[in-house]
Amino acid sequence: MKSVLVLYYSRGGHTAKISRAIAEHIENGGNTCAVMHISEAMKEGLDWSKYDSVALGACVMYGTYDKSVFEFTTKHQAALSEKPSSFYSVNVVARKPEKRVPENNKYLQKFIELSPWKPKDVKVIAGKVDYPSWRWWDRLAIQLIMKMTDGPTDPKTVIDYTDWDDVKVYADHIVSLAD
Ligand SMILES: Cc1cc2nc3c(=O)[nH]c(=O)nc-3n(C[C@H](O)[C@H](O)[C@H](O)COP(=O)(O)O)c2cc1C
Repeated sequence: MKSVLVLYYSRGGHTAKISRAIAEHIENGGNTCAVMHISEAMKEGLDWSKYDSVALGACVMYGTYDKSVFEFTTKHQAALSEKPSSFYSVNVVARKPEKRVPENNKYLQKFIELSPWKPKDVKVIAGKVDYPSWRWWDRLAIQLIMKMTDGPTDPKTVIDYTDWDDVKVYADHIVSLAD
């Protein structure tokens, strides 16, 4: 039985949902999985020795990640590098299959560039467009990104682009990193 830690940064809740789905699938496979927002992990501290592998996920906001993500990977660079570990980036540009290839996803590349922890294993996951729940200025900005990339611009649009079966495959992969 393996013990996995899933850490995430989520602003609107979708990356949290993906992270919980990863944890649920891992537990259904007979392993254990703790799932935690990085702000909670920062506050409460972590006993890294309890885990065989670690995954850290974060959503893309305006081309980058919340600064707390980099604060976390800076503080815990050693622990993350010593463990079998993986990073997953959640963004809506990844609704296009070719943008789910890590080398073709500029946000994934941006993470590798900016984070002192250089994950050996990476994953790009398509996120959710949820215009009605976003602040008007955020909605306008994303509508502009979507207009430029042939995505939905109707302000009523709510589309979950996540491939939930692939999330399960990724969950199994995180467990296998610990072998
Ligand atoms: C303010 C804001 C900025 C965003 N910027 C980008 C972006 O630059 N590129 C992109 O592909 N997706 C962008 N997104 C889409 C989010 O990455 C996507 O909605 C993700 O599912 C959000 O995850 P969360 O609910 O965990 O916060 C943005 C979303 C918001 C609300």
